[in-house]
Amino acid sequence: MHSIYQYQEFLSDYLQSQYETKEPRNLYEPIHYILDLGGKRMRPVLTLMSAEVFDADYKKALPAALAVEVFHNFSLVHDDIMDDAPLRRGKETVHEKWNLNTGILSGDAMLILAYQYFEQYEPIVFRDLAKLFSKTALEVCEGQQWDVDFEERNDVTIPEYLKMIQYKTAVLVAAAMKMGAIIAETSQENANLIYDFGLNLGLAFQLQDDFLDAFGDPETFGKQVGGDIIENKKTYLYLKAVAFSKETEAKELRRLFSIQPEDSTEKIKTVKELFNSSGASKATQDAIQDFTFKAFQTLDKMNIGADKKTLLKTFGENLMGRKV
Ligand code: IPE
Ligand code: MN
Ligand code: MN
Repeated sequence: MHSIYQYQEFLSDYLQSQYETKEPRNLYEPIHYILDLGGKRMRPVLTLMSAEVFDADYKKALPAALAVEVFHNFSLVHDDIMDDAPLRRGKETVHEKWNLNTGILSGDAMLILAYQYFEQYEPIVFRDLAKLFSKTALEVCEGQQWDVDFEERNDVTIPEYLKMIQYKTAVLVAAAMKMGAIIAETSQENANLIYDFGLNLGLAFQLQDDFLDAFGDPETFGKQVGGDIIENKKTYLYLKAVAFSKETEAKELRRLFSIQPEDSTEKIKTVKELFNSSGASKATQDAIQDFTFKAFQTLDKMNIGADKKTLLKTFGENLMGRKV
């Protein structure tokens, strides 16, 4: 096994080896731009890690890991258009730096490039990877549509929210890990367990993402802090705040989440105060812990060495404490 840092390095070297100067520049430059902004590379690291957990060489998993990363970045380029986001990883978003059409088409090309990476696998593994990937990619689209639909709704429930984040975020984390299992040709049981591990970790990850969107440090977070509040996203924080508040405050929250003022400074300030005073912030932190521990429970059932379980657990713990 290797360290998370080493997996990030392997991935980054492999990514650089894939670049060639291709025309038209306005199609390929944004692709290299977004991929070179880096990020945590959490998903591809999990693919490499999972392959080694099930005793395959990480090198065998590099194409699938990169497919996952390219797909993820594609979804971010389009997500930033949908969310009207100015910043990604501390830099201008693709549609801001170039324009809307460039964001759409470069994103489309990335989705296709992602699929091409699976062509490097032998037929049976290829089929399993492609099948899992198609199912996952479609679920991500479903999750994204719910997310957008919820902006306009004021009756979103917690189970609906959880289903939405499962689809838009957690299934890709889960699939990234299952791909490692497929490449390692481990048992179906292990493959399903690692999928569940990834799914719960992914839910915890998105809850944390929502928390940081409101309470992250603008200096280091890399995204516009308060973006979800501006866009009226019905996050766990919001839903819990409404549920925990007295009628006056709940009403105020609902009103604030149905308007989009020119200047959102006051709205963001009030909402964050209500998130804290209602107990929603605490409830969100608790939920992050719960899903992380749920992920750890699936590890207990897995037929792998204790050292490997520890490594996966450490990954989950680090994720819980992240600030970016
Ligand atoms: C993004 O969800 C999910 C996908 C790109 C599929 P968010 O919109 O909540 O994520 P951030 O905050 O922009 O990264
Ligand atoms: Mn979004
Ligand atoms: Mn977004």
